[in-house]
Amino acid sequence: MERLDKLLAATGTWSRKEAKALVKAGRVRVAGELPKGPEDKVAPGTPVTVDGRPIVTEKYVYVMLHKPAGVISSTEDPRQRTVLSLLPKELQRLGLFPVGRLDKDTEGLLLLTNDGPLAHQLLAPGKHVDKVYYVEVDGLLEDEDRQAFHQGLTLADGTRCLPAELEILTPASQGLVTLREGKYHQVKRMLAARGKPVTYLKRLSMGPLTLDPTLERGAWRPLNPEEREELGRK
Ligand code: URA
Repeated sequence: MERLDKLLAATGTWSRKEAKALVKAGRVRVAGELPKGPEDKVAPGTPVTVDGRPIVTEKYVYVMLHKPAGVISSTEDPRQRTVLSLLPKELQRLGLFPVGRLDKDTEGLLLLTNDGPLAHQLLAPGKHVDKVYYVEVDGLLEDEDRQAFHQGLTLADGTRCLPAELEILTPASQGLVTLREGKYHQVKRMLAARGKPVTYLKRLSMGPLTLDPTLERGAWRPLNPEEREELGRK
């Protein structure tokens, strides 16, 4: 159980004093009811609204974003639009960061959270979390490309990649790539090494998390309880 004013202040949107004032002004509802005062105790998971808008009351926040092309996977930048700028102001104040990066022109699944240990768990080199990308290339993918991916490619600069999967789709200019690591521009560099430059790239999944097909480009939603559970965060 947490004090209502403390819980409101923990969202990063209001100070403790402002939170008290909000409650006293009757702008806050707890499970749909008017609270008695700022010191009311609230059980974890109870819906709390301010002016009818739900607030996030958990310590850690997990957001699935369908990253569009043209925004960078950083939290701030003086000139370019960032993935964080696609989220509402309340969420921008919670210290969320993207778990791994997608290139500016890459679309698809991006998880944003303020849960540092989870990010470590998903990104640490030894953890080998599968990431699946849909790819379009200039040229046609062949079984030799698939075998080269499977054996572990060497990039133009001599970097060796772990074995990866390439599934060739129809038409053969399209494929699905599964990686267990995340080197800089990895999919593009792997396909460049095969002489088939990437013309379009979209991440479809990361570990147990799959891009929600109902999310339009640029849209986001909180992870649902099943997704959090699959990430070991319930
Ligand atoms: N590989 C790339 O080349 N770019 C990305 O954004 C992700 C994986």
